[in-house]
Amino acid sequence: MHLLGSAFFLLLTILAATNAAVLDRTTMVVHESIKAVPTGFTHSGSISPDQEITLRIALTHADITGLQAKTYAVSDPGNKLYGQHLTVDEVFAFTRPTALTASAVSTWLSSNSIIPTSISPAGDVLSVTLSASNANALLDAQFEKFAHVASGTTMVRTLAYSVPASLQEHVRYVHPTVAFIPPLQAPAMKAAGGVNASCAAEMNPSCLQELYAFPTDLANNSAQNVLGVAGYVNEFANFADLALFTTQFFPTRPASDSNFTVIEVDEGTNSQTLSNAGVEADLDMDMASLAGGVPLTFFTVGGEDLDGIDGFIDITNTILVMPVETRPTVLTTSYGFNEQDIPDFLNTEMCNAYTQLGAVGISVLFASGDGGVGGFQSIFCEVFVPTSPSDCPFITSVGGVTGLPPQTAASFSSGGFSETFEVPDYQAADVAAYVASIGNEYDGLYSTNSRGIPDLAMQAENVEFAWEGGLFIVSGTSAATPMFAAMIALINDRLIAAGKPVLGFLNPFLYSAQGRAAFTDITSGTNPGCGTNGFSAGPGWDPVTGLGTPNFEQLLAAVGL
Ligand SMILES: *[C@@H]1O[C@H](CO)[C@@H](O)[C@H](O)[C@H]1NC(C)=O
Ligand SMILES: *[C@@H]1O[C@H](CO)[C@@H](O)[C@H](O)[C@H]1NC(C)=O
Ligand SMILES: *[C@@H]1O[C@H](CO)[C@@H](O)[C@H](O)[C@H]1NC(C)=O
Repeated sequence: MHLLGSAFFLLLTILAATNAAVLDRTTMVVHESIKAVPTGFTHSGSISPDQEITLRIALTHADITGLQAKTYAVSDPGNKLYGQHLTVDEVFAFTRPTALTASAVSTWLSSNSIIPTSISPAGDVLSVTLSASNANALLDAQFEKFAHVASGTTMVRTLAYSVPASLQEHVRYVHPTVAFIPPLQAPAMKAAGGVNASCAAEMNPSCLQELYAFPTDLANNSAQNVLGVAGYVNEFANFADLALFTTQFFPTRPASDSNFTVIEVDEGTNSQTLSNAGVEADLDMDMASLAGGVPLTFFTVGGEDLDGIDGFIDITNTILVMPVETRPTVLTTSYGFNEQDIPDFLNTEMCNAYTQLGAVGISVLFASGDGGVGGFQSIFCEVFVPTSPSDCPFITSVGGVTGLPPQTAASFSSGGFSETFEVPDYQAADVAAYVASIGNEYDGLYSTNSRGIPDLAMQAENVEFAWEGGLFIVSGTSAATPMFAAMIALINDRLIAAGKPVLGFLNPFLYSAQGRAAFTDITSGTNPGCGTNGFSAGPGWDPVTGLGTPNFEQLLAAVGL
């Protein structure tokens, strides 16, 4: 009895000491905080101290600026390292934490009896599951329940959290803590029926081939040249719909070139029930099929995300560890966020993820959005709303144009200037020239020395596609983005045939003298929003249509073929 009693007492002593250390707030420093619950969300009560919470703890990378510099070097046609893409291991040497960081965080967690699991291939993100009371103690936080009013979605968040002073430099963020992100939605696109051979009424593949000089012969180098399409929020791409589209518009194409592979991410599913076909997903696959002969892969991302940002980072981790032969060389995404809804640390984390893809030679494309200067979809706004992840300097953002040549900006084409990211070197002169050209009309509504979007634009109105067994037309930058992905995949096919590396991160090339010569400048149209006329397209780069519309033959010449 006596011995047992002693042992019990000893255990209590240790617990008390541990708790004392955790609760010693003098060593705790606020790591992140927000002043109030963001608009659109509401406090909806406390949670039980026993409720389990899963948090991601992101560790400081060994050398993220080194990775950025290397990615620019291998993507800049003027650099002697151009085309010398990194291996995944070389990338992880930059993004994994240093031994010092790893051991500092590990010691902190184990002294609090917390056992983390690594949830990123570079080992820079840990997942921990603990009770709300332990999370509050560990992070000097106050986790409570909040709701997103419009959707009724509830979430557990805190308005502030702290980490020990000695860990500040080792921990980038803990998430989800202070991030209140509205649920991801598919772009609101309406499909309208009908078949009309006139390109003015319906842009079918022949119209697009003529507009942008897409080749009609099939690509032959399928090895290591897969085109990847990302699908979210239960938007399913349908095999039969793609077959219908290709039979209609590419009647001589073999059936084997009219289908796609499906890869499931975050417990994503692959419903092939025709009535479950997604407008966005089907449109994306149809536009991707402009790259005839290039194998297509649809990534269906489910709701069980590890990254706390709807799988936008999980898909990159999935791709990084794929065998090189089946890994996409182009990844196109027609979903996104308003930049203001994503905290800077998370926006930066997504951008770091796309930088890793660019470094290994993958071109990453995002739609710029359909709300003009008002964001991804037009919203109430007092200042202009740039979109994310389009705002990341390491991706290529695609806006929209319309009409027969000379084409004009589509009025919904989102564009503007990031509040998160500074202007990258490749774009600095263009942004400065545009900002100087417009005077002070919109002063205070946008940031004048930051990353400008989009980078280019393509047809985005009345685009024909197959859905639920019929042919429809639809409008959105969602159509333009996979269209450009197809063009890049076809350029990659020719590069592989010539024994050259694929394009990878595109922007330094697109903005180079050779690259920009492959674009038709779009000089008319505006992107209204936020109660303004928006920006105007004009000579040179502009935040409505970027560099303009690409031409396949001229892009081929620009890469030296
Ligand atoms: C097709 O579109 C053109 C151009 O908008 C229009 O003039 C024509 O009437 C349409 N044809 C049909 C059959 O709807
Ligand atoms: C692929 O091969 C076929 C048959 O040899 C040829 O007709 C076609 O032009 C080739 N495609 C390209 C892009 O070279
Ligand atoms: C497409 O590929 C899937 C999976 O390999 C297969 O089940 C399906 O039958 C194919 N669909 C068509 C229309 O060929």
